[in-house]
Amino acid sequence: MKDLTMRTVYVNGVYLPEDQAQISIFDRAVLFADAVYEVTAVVDRKLLDFKGHMARLKRSLNEMDMDDVYSHDDLLSIHRALIEKNDLDEGVIYLQVTRGVADRDFDFSQIESTPGLFLFTQAKNLVKNSLAARGQNISLVEDQRWGRSDIKTVQLLFSSLSKTRAKKNGADDVWLYRGDEITEGSSNNAYIVTENDEIITRELSTDILHGITRNSVLNVARLHQMKVIERAFTIDELKSAKEAFSTSASGFVNPVVTVDGVPIGSGEPGTISKSLRQTYLQASLENAI
Ligand code: PDD
Repeated sequence: MKDLTMRTVYVNGVYLPEDQAQISIFDRAVLFADAVYEVTAVVDRKLLDFKGHMARLKRSLNEMDMDDVYSHDDLLSIHRALIEKNDLDEGVIYLQVTRGVADRDFDFSQIESTPGLFLFTQAKNLVKNSLAARGQNISLVEDQRWGRSDIKTVQLLFSSLSKTRAKKNGADDVWLYRGDEITEGSSNNAYIVTENDEIITRELSTDILHGITRNSVLNVARLHQMKVIERAFTIDELKSAKEAFSTSASGFVNPVVTVDGVPIGSGEPGTISKSLRQTYLQASLENAI
């Protein structure tokens, strides 16, 4: 009988039960975090913003001097096969491309293997998200990540450690700052809404990940005649904002209700954040593939 808790995953050309999937200890992903990844949301068995995720994957590979050997169509087929094989109604698909296998050496110019590829599914409730309904409690941490946060590498230890420590202290997540300005969240982009209903989020640079959800949400906001300003905002602006929210592929638009214990606005999920969540979802479901 089929074990329903056992997922089917994809590793380097084959579909396998998750407990049989393996990669080499010499894979550079293991030894150097030398790999890039994408996370794409699935709702009603369809992929949200898939084109955007694949375009960003291409960019990450390029910035890492990695070969782009997997085509958009092949990757789409693998995503769709995993949805079928795992009967995935709602959740995410994680994809990782590793530089490949080579004996340990900081210089990778002599690598001969082709890039590694693996994907797996995670079933999750994304649309009915209790955190989005309640609103997130955020704590602030100095951004000590490397200077190329725009590349979606698997080198995520700083954010992972910071989030775990913050959760131990009762928060839901961390937002990071450099100087007195917010960069982004541990795994999401960060926004405030001012008293004049302007939406402010940091401009694209090497300081932040160029969120695919960010791009879609800003498009939707502009389409609905909302004023969007792409610039850094300070910690003081955040604490005195009318609303704050984050965006990511798995969290969509996720309201923030406190920052380091200070209530944002009324201390409840804000009206604009809630309506952007609805309009973003509606628009991306219409374009889902
Ligand atoms: N994280 N900023 C960081 C540092 C991220 O890791 C992510 C995504 C985002 C939002 O990007 P997008 O809208 O394309 O998901 C911003 C994913 C979801 C993760 O690591 O699980």
